[in-house]
Amino acid sequence: MHLFTPFELRDVTARNRVMVSPMCQYSCEARDGLATEWHRVHLGSRAVGGAGIVMTEATAVTPRGRISPEDLGIWSDDHAEALSPVAGFLADHGAVPAIQLAHAGRKASTRRPADGGDPIHDDGGWTPVGPTAEPWPHDEPLETERLSTDDVVDLVDAWAAAAGRAVDAGFDIVEIHAAHGYLLHEFLSPVTNGREDAYGGDFEGRTRFLREVVAAVREIVPDGTGLFVRISATDWLPGRESWTVDDSARLAADLEPLGVDLMDVSSGGIHPDQEVPDTGPHYQVPYAERVAESGVPVGAVGGITTPQGADAIVRNGRADLAVVGREHLRDPYFAIRAAEELGHEAPVPRQYTRGFD
Ligand SMILES: Cc1cc2nc3c(=O)[nH]c(=O)nc-3n(C[C@H](O)[C@H](O)[C@H](O)COP(=O)(O)O)c2cc1C
Repeated sequence: MHLFTPFELRDVTARNRVMVSPMCQYSCEARDGLATEWHRVHLGSRAVGGAGIVMTEATAVTPRGRISPEDLGIWSDDHAEALSPVAGFLADHGAVPAIQLAHAGRKASTRRPADGGDPIHDDGGWTPVGPTAEPWPHDEPLETERLSTDDVVDLVDAWAAAAGRAVDAGFDIVEIHAAHGYLLHEFLSPVTNGREDAYGGDFEGRTRFLREVVAAVREIVPDGTGLFVRISATDWLPGRESWTVDDSARLAADLEPLGVDLMDVSSGGIHPDQEVPDTGPHYQVPYAERVAESGVPVGAVGGITTPQGADAIVRNGRADLAVVGREHLRDPYFAIRAAEELGHEAPVPRQYTRGFD
């Protein structure tokens, strides 16, 4: 087993084990959540560049689930229609089209990073929602709305509807974003979930929302569609009641029977007090290994920048997929370069073969 051993799940076969990590582009300039030429060219380039799976950025299941006004969305059929050529291009060029479905929870309504990233208090912003009314601790926090029990049930439906649209648009893998301090993570973690209804309290209660989203999505997508869940394996808040790696392994074991095919293992993001360790090469791989002990396939992400490093992660059985983020911003052709350096046949599109004679 190595980086260029195809990855098979359900009806999906990825030509290699390089996945483009979801990365927000903040490029819906019209602030309508509709995919633009940027998304098609950006994601399309990574398919042309040889990646096995190309995943969209966090794509909001409701308008209030966007981080910034320029985020992608999939809360209507028009959104699916705008994404359809993106998925089609990815598939036409050998990559498995994948989409990350997301809700930003209390971290919503901020300016895009290039515009400072601050919460939007004036026109163009909106009221974020969370498990409680406690806001994300910005310097000037946004008033935040506590979701009622009925609201949570409605959001489960919103997630399922979004997944159905994603399939209609042509995506073969759906990833549920339950990491980085966004809505589903806010329910998982005791740091942010102070609810007293069925969606709070103990591990069972705090994981209920995610389990219901997974079950609803699995029910609506065809059996052949892949289902991934991205989690933050730890809150990085030692000495405080928080979400831990052991919780993550337990969660993965609970999600597998609901039809989850892979856990995409990231970390952090729930609170600004987090104590982030050294974020050197492959720093989150040990978390992926721990989650894999549950028996569920895993993707490792974070600081994977070299073909040899990515290959070693797969070859040594530490993870099933090497999920590569920022290196793909620097080099859309990472997978082609990896194949060449590792001595495999490179996934070069016919239009470019003269460059590789
Ligand atoms: C510009 C940018 C946007 C990102 N957007 C998302 C996102 O939409 N969803 C997500 O789960 N992670 C997001 N991330 C995190 C990446 O997917 C990845 O987990 C992180 O960058 C670590 O991997 P790397 O070291 O390979 O970049 C983003 C990261 C960057 C740099």
